[in-house]
Amino acid sequence: MRAHMVRRKHMKFNILKRKSEVDATFERVADHLREKKVLLPAEFEELCKDLSPDAKEEIKSKLRQLKYTHNEDMFEFTDASKPARDITDKELIELLIKPDYVNTDEDVIQVGNQFYKGIVASGFPATVGENWLGELTQEKRNVDFSIFLEPSSVRAIELYLNKQLRKVENDLYKYQQKGVSNPALKARKDQLTQQLKHILTGEYKLFKMSLHIAAKGKNKEDVTLLGSKVVNDLHSKGIETKYTTKYNEQLLKSIIPCGKRHLDSREILVPGPAAAASFPFSSSFYDIDEQDGVLLGFNSNKIPIAKSIWKLPKYVGTVIGSTGSGKSYATKALVLNDNLINGTKVFILDPEDEYTDMCQNIKDSQVIRLGRDSKKIPNILSLMGGSLSDKLISVPKVFDVLLGGLTASQKPLIERAIIATYKKKGIVETNEKSWKKTPPTLSDLAAMLKAHKKKCSDYKLKSDYETMSNKLERFTTGIFKFMNTTGDGINPKSMFNVIEFKSMPNEVRPVLMLILLEFIKTKFLEDKEKKILVLDEAWRVLKNQSEAAYVESFARTFRKSNGSLILITQSVEELQGCPEGKAYLANSAFTYIFKTEGVVVQETAELFGLNDTETEIISSAKQGEGILIWGKTHHKIQVRVDPKTHELITTNPEEVKRLRGKR
Ligand SMILES: Nc1ncnc2c1ncn2[C@@H]1O[C@H](COP(=O)(O)OP(=O)(O)O)[C@@H](O)[C@H]1O
Ligand SMILES: [Mg+2]
Repeated sequence: MRAHMVRRKHMKFNILKRKSEVDATFERVADHLREKKVLLPAEFEELCKDLSPDAKEEIKSKLRQLKYTHNEDMFEFTDASKPARDITDKELIELLIKPDYVNTDEDVIQVGNQFYKGIVASGFPATVGENWLGELTQEKRNVDFSIFLEPSSVRAIELYLNKQLRKVENDLYKYQQKGVSNPALKARKDQLTQQLKHILTGEYKLFKMSLHIAAKGKNKEDVTLLGSKVVNDLHSKGIETKYTTKYNEQLLKSIIPCGKRHLDSREILVPGPAAAASFPFSSSFYDIDEQDGVLLGFNSNKIPIAKSIWKLPKYVGTVIGSTGSGKSYATKALVLNDNLINGTKVFILDPEDEYTDMCQNIKDSQVIRLGRDSKKIPNILSLMGGSLSDKLISVPKVFDVLLGGLTASQKPLIERAIIATYKKKGIVETNEKSWKKTPPTLSDLAAMLKAHKKKCSDYKLKSDYETMSNKLERFTTGIFKFMNTTGDGINPKSMFNVIEFKSMPNEVRPVLMLILLEFIKTKFLEDKEKKILVLDEAWRVLKNQSEAAYVESFARTFRKSNGSLILITQSVEELQGCPEGKAYLANSAFTYIFKTEGVVVQETAELFGLNDTETEIISSAKQGEGILIWGKTHHKIQVRVDPKTHELITTNPEEVKRLRGKR
């Protein structure tokens, strides 16, 4: 289905070679005239010295036709003269599309550098499912094909089917006479009767269909091999075929997309639904959610995959792959597109400072940087405008992480201490107004733990208080005391918000992530606008059961305010020892799996239910390539964006340097 744009120079040469000597000389003469404006008799004789007098006369008459002024044997190029050579439309088209040469062999045809082997369908299956010709277009096979479909009149089909039916009945009768049964004929009879019934009741129409295919390749062996593969595949779908031996040229012409059939192959009657399903551009070939779908990438046939997370039952997504495999890039493309198309608010928790650069060129964006000295770190105990009841449910989970895991006996103790700390500040569940009061800080909680410990007489519980106090001390007076803030934190009010905390020590990153999740969840609880929260290095908060449980409950609440959570993580290796975390990732509504290396390939494949081919794809994928699981469907995907977006989101150091220079 492609015009052959072959090197023009080469073709021009070919065209000239075919010209007669007279034409060639005429062109030389005309060129001379165009350049020098006059042609003297001696010059004319010199240019035409090898030609006969007749030929010379022919050239002269041609020149006169072109309105070169002929003056005492001297030709002159004037304004009235036409250009030396008018290229006719036909010549121009030839020049543009004509291949260097065509070589018709019996089995294959060669056009320029390309070899073709023709195949036509000679029999179609009686019933076909949706996407029955999918293989031809879905697979990355080097084939061109054309489908000719023509509606046929009800009357003609009725006649045809009746005739067929009579024939089958006759045959059946013959078998019966012999006392032999023929199940195939019986089935055929039933099928014809059914079809006849459908036609007569107007349930569906039959279409005349023919299918022409050209296998393409760089040499005879290649096309022959590909041809036989195509034939086998079609056979497995119940489509019978024939090679177009000797008629390859006609077949090729039929495949040129101008709707003309040059080959009278057998036309088969197919029912309407099957005919509709054979359209390569019908919806099952395109993976597009209309209206709010955003472009995610392209499948192996370079067909766009455009999807909407807002149509999924859950909004949780996972992006997994080794360093540099394209996780952040794909996520940026997704959130930018969703922001553009659906007006989605974006929050990115960026532990490695990978997303801040792009903000410089995004309208209504902001970067919030959190470091040890920043006063903006949200106070864990702040209600952030939410209710105390909600806080009392979620904050113990944050402390579970903050204090490095709590035992069953410690959990009720901290819960009690938290309630008491709020109460001491006058904040109680029963009084909504009190929720607006200045919240306690970590120091207040630490003091409360100490007080409870003092009052406690049970030796074992005393030791529990002791342990928790010691751990909390790191965040109040110890090395992480910068987390002990009074601030109501940050204000991610833009459409596009990046919260960066690269300078934060690894130990506090998980806690900080949870605080930020909690903060955003609470702050936007009442806001029903679509929003996406991206959590890079998500493994940091999926390392144990309590973390996984927190993230899960977060996502559930966030979903209620139209929030989608995207978790980015390197591999399942970081989640060793946390089956809950893995299970949570595997349960995502959508998952990108990019290049995966080493020992985790198999585990990743098992976790996400990849087949062997898909496993091979993720282990050998290039940057931006992988498997996309969307709902229940698996796609091979290549993430691609337009050049402008690429400039915006790439972090390749060389590109960034070049782009900085350009700006
Ligand atoms: N689909 C892609 N198309 C083009 N370049 C890509 C693609 N994916 C990644 N890259 C390049 O690779 C770099 C690193 O990719 P990135 O997504 O940051 O990796 P990681 O998986 O570590 O997050 C990007 O900044 C970009 O330059
Ligand atoms: Mg990254």
